[in-house]
Amino acid sequence: TRRITVHDIAAAKERGEKWPMLTAYDAMTASVFDEAGIPVMLVGDSMGNTHLGYETTVPVTMDEMTLLSAAVVRGTRRALIIGDLPFGSYQEGPVQALRNATRLVKEAGVGAVKLEGGERSLPQTELIVQAGIPVVSHLGLTPQSVNTMGYRVQGRSDEAAHQLLKDAKAAQDAGAFAVVLEMVPAELAAEVTRSLHIPTVGIGAGAGTDAQVLVWTDMTGLTGGKVPRFTKQYANLRQTLGDAAKAFADDVVGGAFPQEEHTFH
Ligand code: KIV
Ligand code: NA
Repeated sequence: TRRITVHDIAAAKERGEKWPMLTAYDAMTASVFDEAGIPVMLVGDSMGNTHLGYETTVPVTMDEMTLLSAAVVRGTRRALIIGDLPFGSYQEGPVQALRNATRLVKEAGVGAVKLEGGERSLPQTELIVQAGIPVVSHLGLTPQSVNTMGYRVQGRSDEAAHQLLKDAKAAQDAGAFAVVLEMVPAELAAEVTRSLHIPTVGIGAGAGTDAQVLVWTDMTGLTGGKVPRFTKQYANLRQTLGDAAKAFADDVVGGAFPQEEHTFH
């Protein structure tokens, strides 16, 4: 079996096929999703929230991204693995962006990288693509800009909608092979999708995008506290894991574990 490539992704848009993407941050979980047939996985800088205990994605480092991306690549055989460029790893300019994208490809083995911004990340996208590394552009709500943007729906005014369309076209012209649209009105996301020949991947962007991505801990109910309204919860892993931990604790305290079958003589 060979891995999914950006050519397969392009072909899916031509055939009008929708496809799913999940985040992944470790080898074992990624192997489950790979075996379930998820064709594309994103090692998102959302690892800052889900796995590293940060409040935002802003503190995530290249070392952290590289470590977890490598684990996801090792845990999978078929999926295309996209690694996020974390905050501060590409904002200085195209040379810094290419250096860090190259590191994710060489040290972690990802097949593509993602960065936030359309027009504002144009030189970065162009140089990385020229070097032969596929790029995904992330538009709409871009969590690395939380300190100026907050977490709210983007592109609601006519001006903001116009800019989002310009950003999407700029990303496509710079050579991006896909565009993530996070928390934008469905009508605008559908318009962007019709305007581009590269696929759009929505998260909180309605049903009109070519693909959908969710953070895996949200969609399986592992995330504690509030999850975004755009997430659908397909399992309740927090409950399941908590129940298992309590049952184990009860067994140990009550002497019900271990039994004879768990014991060597
Ligand atoms: O980091 C992440 O999980 C992401 C997705 C929400 C697109 O960027
Ligand atoms: Na991200």
